Amino acid sequence: MLITIIGAGSTTARALVPMLIEETNHDLHLISSQYIEHQDARIKVSKINLLDKTILKTAVMQNIPQVIVNTAAFTNVDDCETDRSMAWQVNVTLVETLARLARVTDAHLVHFSTDYVFDGAKGPYTEVDIPSPINYYGKTKLAGENACLSSGADATVVRTNVVYGPGTSRIDFVHWVLMNIESKTEMRIVTDQISNPTYVDDLAEAVTRIIMRKRTGLYHVGGSDYVSRFDFAKRIADFFKLDSSMMTPITTAELHQPARRPLRGGLVSIKAESDLRMKVRGIDSGLVSLRHALFSGVKK
Ligand SMILES: NC(=O)c1ccc[n+]([C@@H]2O[C@H](COP(=O)([O-])OP(=O)(O)OC[C@H]3O[C@@H](n4cnc5c(N)ncnc54)[C@H](OP(=O)(O)O)[C@@H]3O)[C@@H](O)[C@H]2O)c1
Repeated sequence: MLITIIGAGSTTARALVPMLIEETNHDLHLISSQYIEHQDARIKVSKINLLDKTILKTAVMQNIPQVIVNTAAFTNVDDCETDRSMAWQVNVTLVETLARLARVTDAHLVHFSTDYVFDGAKGPYTEVDIPSPINYYGKTKLAGENACLSSGADATVVRTNVVYGPGTSRIDFVHWVLMNIESKTEMRIVTDQISNPTYVDDLAEAVTRIIMRKRTGLYHVGGSDYVSRFDFAKRIADFFKLDSSMMTPITTAELHQPARRPLRGGLVSIKAESDLRMKVRGIDSGLVSLRHALFSGVKK
């Protein structure tokens, strides 16, 4: 079986690719706007402009996949507010193209979304809660979900939040905290945004099981600890035995960010855990895995 991964330079794909190679015997086609180096004979790589529909279609159809996993997304929440056209192109138009390709090729489409499709009034949220996004990122992600789930293709949408791991395409929250502590930079961190940080390998494990079990529909995958960003930052400093004195607690309103943030976010993972027979780890266990990956040189 061939699994095509779109946006293969993403944080999520960096964890998913080695897991699919280790845990399955499937071949992978990685499609990215970056050049990705791989020596494995089961991996083929295409570097293309992901936003050019014709080129994207040609790249996918070159080797017709049984599964398409889309990890590409415009994930900078504030930039989505100001560059709405780009946010729509990446988070919606690209997904519509992939959904059409999945339908015509009978491929299973696996796509990612976020707890930012909710307004943050009463998280953590289950799969049956009704989305009501309060910023443009959340609106585009909800439109992308709908494009998948209403396409007629076999489609799965996996919502997640605050993903961290060893191999990141951009600086995640854990790396941001560690870098600031190391450079002795003052951090103002919000106490009123609650979520459940997710270790990237758990997200990758959920997707691997979704593919192997051919599951469709909506799944929430979030870590087992619900914390504020401030408490998460403290836990990171404590875990790595680092000085947390340069962390100042503030509220979201004090940050004056371009995009509104859902405050009580987070995702209930009971459906994923029971249906996919897996556990989503909490912060301490996630940080143990992260430390192991960083210090054993498995950084992807
Ligand atoms: N990370 C989180 O905390 C988090 C939280 C909730 C939901 N999610 C969802 O999970 C999925 C994966 O997130 P992630 O954090 O792994 O993603 P990421 O590291 O931000 O990477 C996204 C990838 O999308 C592609 N991309 C981004 N902007 C693009 C543009 N303007 N034009 C073309 N391609 C572009 C790039 O792929 P290439 O490098 O291959 O070109 C990029 O590496 C996304 O759907 C995201 O919305 C993530």
